[in-house]
Amino acid sequence: MLGQDVVRAAEFVNHEVVGYARADLDITDPRVVRRAMEAERPDAVVNCAAWTDVDGAEAAEDDATEVNGVGAGIVAAEAAGVGAVVVHPSTDYVFDGTAIRPYSESDRPSPIQAYGRSKLAGEIEVAAAAERHFIVRSSWLFGAGGDNFVETMLKLAGDLQQIVVVRDQGGSPTYTGHLADALVRLLDGEAYGIHHIAGSDQCSWYEFAVEIFRQAGSDCQVMSSTSDTLDRKAPRPAFSVLVSEREHPILLPPWEEGLQAYLAERAQVVSS
Ligand SMILES: NC(=O)c1ccc[n+]([C@@H]2O[C@H](COP(=O)([O-])OP(=O)(O)OC[C@H]3O[C@@H](n4cnc5c(N)ncnc54)[C@H](OP(=O)(O)O)[C@@H]3O)[C@@H](O)[C@H]2O)c1
Repeated sequence: MLGQDVVRAAEFVNHEVVGYARADLDITDPRVVRRAMEAERPDAVVNCAAWTDVDGAEAAEDDATEVNGVGAGIVAAEAAGVGAVVVHPSTDYVFDGTAIRPYSESDRPSPIQAYGRSKLAGEIEVAAAAERHFIVRSSWLFGAGGDNFVETMLKLAGDLQQIVVVRDQGGSPTYTGHLADALVRLLDGEAYGIHHIAGSDQCSWYEFAVEIFRQAGSDCQVMSSTSDTLDRKAPRPAFSVLVSEREHPILLPPWEEGLQAYLAERAQVVSS
């Protein structure tokens, strides 16, 4: 999801962009990564490749860490080797979710599932490998070109009249189009280090689902439940809202506006 939007956002502001698909560049293979860096000699590298199957990572933590930890380190080291700045997306799932206020950049990560541990390993690898890095934690992504909660809800609404969604997890849904613009904007400055950038405001998955159906004009009814009724392999943080303590943070539009922009983008694709 995010990779395609980063390519678009960077092209929009006239950067010269090369996007690599997984088939052309496996980030866990140092030789392949080095070859790509030496061929392109980029000024900046945005690594959107990741193992993002949160439940799947539970039974395959080594594989997830190979991509999200080791691979992230390889990309950062090889990028730094050719003098490139590194932008590395990370996640709210590095936090345990027990906070009662939004998490800021200096809060201590303490992931409660394999995916979060693998992403935290990546943050550590990137920071060690590339002095000029932006580690950007974001949350609850939705956008074109990938599986996401909005698509799941709209598909379910096509099949069912009533669905049940949890109300006891809070976060900030983030439209990848908005996040991609922010990642590209970061490259204009030198505010290296960790950044928290997510859709403004917060909600539960239940509230998110209600708003999706409201904006999409669906009459599917949403009932709420709690996470203990779900049989999921990986635990999720109960609360993972991100806030930035930076003096000049990049603020994204409210998540409802992100949803509106995404539904408009989808409608355009369907009609074209
Ligand atoms: N999705 C979210 O809700 C969320 C929330 C917070 C942060 N993030 C972070 O945001 C970033 C982008 O997430 P996303 O949701 O856009 O991810 P995504 O749609 O799942 O895309 C990840 C891409 O990485 C590719 N990939 C996997 N292993 C690779 C490897 N070894 N070498 C090269 N490419 C590989 C995947 O290919 P295949 O499809 O072939 O596997 C996929 O195309 C990630 O760092 C993620 O951790 C995501």
